[in-house]
Order: sequence, then structure tokens, then C-alpha cells
Amino acid sequence: MISKRLNSLPKYAFAQINDQIKLLQSKGIKIIDFGVGDPKEPTPEFIREAAKKAIDEHASSGYPSYNGSKNFREKVAEYLKRRSNIDLDPETEISSTIGSKEAVFNFPEAVINPGDYVLMPNPGYPPYKSGTIFAEGIPYQYPLLPENDFFPDFSKIPEEVLQKAKILWLNYPNSPTGKTASKNFYEKAIKFAQKHNILIASDECYLDIYYQKKPISILEISKKNIIAFHSLSKRSNMTGWRIGFVCGDADIIQTFKKLKPNIDSGTPDFIQDAAAKALGDDIHVQKSRDLYIQKKEILLNAFKKINLEIHEPESTFYIWQKVPKNYTSIEFAKKLLDSEIGIIVTPGELISDEINNFNPGKDYVRFALVPSLEQIKSAAEKLEKLKV
Ligand SMILES: Cc1ncc(COP(=O)(O)O)c(C=O)c1O
Repeated sequence: MISKRLNSLPKYAFAQINDQIKLLQSKGIKIIDFGVGDPKEPTPEFIREAAKKAIDEHASSGYPSYNGSKNFREKVAEYLKRRSNIDLDPETEISSTIGSKEAVFNFPEAVINPGDYVLMPNPGYPPYKSGTIFAEGIPYQYPLLPENDFFPDFSKIPEEVLQKAKILWLNYPNSPTGKTASKNFYEKAIKFAQKHNILIASDECYLDIYYQKKPISILEISKKNIIAFHSLSKRSNMTGWRIGFVCGDADIIQTFKKLKPNIDSGTPDFIQDAAAKALGDDIHVQKSRDLYIQKKEILLNAFKKINLEIHEPESTFYIWQKVPKNYTSIEFAKKLLDSEIGIIVTPGELISDEINNFNPGKDYVRFALVPSLEQIKSAAEKLEKLKV
């Protein structure tokens, strides 16, 4: 009874990892989970307090608005003005989302026709592809390779694909490679997209998670034909709350707003109020970054001690770690799952697709720096004993 489209999708990569975790736990093995990018640190208290207050205030508010309350959209505009000096009209250039996953998956439905191509990174966040397939588009996956510093090589995309391409997905700060995009790269991407009449969908959900240089948003360069996807999940440890927003070109936002009421009925008001408070504060985000720096250093030091090739991330909370020679990503991930180590990582192969007999994730595993500091220290001790 399953539909052809659903059947055509691989099992969601992280669902496979969750199965592995359950199996190990059922054997009583203590695991440290670097798999899914789901921060274990609590949502800051001032955000939780704002939500509690808002529950009573909205006792009889009924359904929330489809595209976010005026207050939420204004706070989004203030945040992006303060952070990036971007001017956005809360009425026409911003819409709330139920986290960026919903928006990323549904967006192609709003703008593509069957047979249109959607360009996306490989490795990349799975809903770029599944959303395209459900909208009857054709995914074209460009590889992120170390020789290109994990940026797309636009010159390699075939002309016949470009002729029918409608969306270019970009994701910087990048999961899983930890790369930050420069102004120069965005200018090049914008020029390329303009030339081929493609709109840019820029997934910026890790914009505030970085180690040194603050990443820029593509909207700092232009809004024309560009929509950016943002999330409270990583910035404010709010993965469980489900709230994000899209912003950019008013025509694209209007089209997105036309789609959205057909699918959902908006983000609960109390969550929007809490998220508005979160967007007004930068201190908790700085604290979060300080913690990620410590976690990253501990883990990279452990990698150095066992002579793994070091790849310093610039942003996000991921380390895209090259596996030792003679291992594939799955083999190395399995080695880390040995009962005396008990570390879960995401094998690069599971979040990359094999195209023309080549899988760009095969030599990498992804560590998400989401376990607690104590757990990461314990993981580092175990890793240092690893013979590879
Ligand atoms: C690249 C990327 N985009 C979007 C998301 C979705 O985040 P959320 O739906 O929690 O906003 C994630 C989550 O891990 C992600 O890694």
C-alpha cells in the first residue's frame, strides 16, 4: 500500500543510527552519541520562562497565524538587522516555519514543476532531496570535495541540467563539512544563479554556530531571487520546540506563504513568543559557542594523538573527520561502536549518495559535538586508546 514516491526514498539515515543505539542500549552498553545533530544542552532558562508565561497569555488565542505573529516577525527583522545589517520587511519578507525541516522539505512544492531540476550538495541534509522527489522534481547533487575546499564546482554542472534547474540549495555554514562561505563565494553563486535563472535557497540554520570568524548571510549581498532558511534549533538549543523562519525576496516569500496554509496551521503562539525572546539575546549564543570550542578542542586533540588527519571546522558543531587509511566510513563507524568504546558517529556514506561509482562521504565520519563536556572528555580518553 506504500506510495511509489515514499518507497523510492532510502530509510532516513538517522533513523538507522537510532536503531543502532537501541540495539547497543539493550545490551547494557553505555554509549556516547555523536550521531544526530541534536544538542543535549538544555534550552536556556529565560526562553523556557518566556514560554511558560506565554501559555497563560494565549489561553484563548485559538489557532496561531500561518506565517508567524507580528511580534515574532518583527523580532526576526531586528535580529537580522543587529546581526548582519540586513533590512527585512516583517510583513512581506519573513515567514515563520515549523523548524527549517518543514520548510526545506515543502519549499520545492511551491516553486517547481514536474521535471525541473533542483541542485543540492552531496553530502547534504536529506530533505533537500526527498522534498524535491515529493514535488516531482529531479535532484542534481553536486559533490562537496576536499579538492574544492568543500564548495560546489558550478562549471561541472551539465548544460541540460542548468536549462531545467529551478532551485540551487546552498548550505553554509555547512553540515557536515564545517565550512563557512565567503562573500566572494556568494557573489560567484549569485552570478551563476542569475545567469541561469535559478533561485537560491540558502540553508543558514547554523549561522550563529562558529569558532572564529562570524559567518555572513547570503542576504547581506542580495535578496533578489534568494530565500534564506533559519532555525532556532541550533542557535538556542530549541530542536524540541520546532520553530524557524524563512526570509528574503518578497515574491518568493509570498509564494511560500501561499503554500503553507495548505500544509500546516502555524507554530504555536507560546513557542513563537519564546523564540522572539531568544532572538533578542546574543549572550546565550556566545556561551553556547564557548562550549563548542572546548568540545572541539578536546576531540581534535584526541584525533591528533592517534594520528588522524586533522580537519578544523570553521563553523557548525560538526567535525567532518577523515577516517584512517584502509577503512571506509562505515567500517570506521563500526570500529567506534566496539563495546569498549561505544561511540556513535554518522558514517559519511550514509549522508552522501554514490554517484558514478563515487561516494564523497566514503572517507569521512561526522562527529556532532552534542554530548556533554564530560561525555566528550570520556570519549576522548577512549579514542586515545584506539589502535588504527
Ligand atoms: C543542514 C540542516 N538544515 C536544516 C536542519 C533542520 O533543523 P530544524 O528543522 O530543527 O530547524 C538541520 C538539522 O539538523 C540541518 O542539519
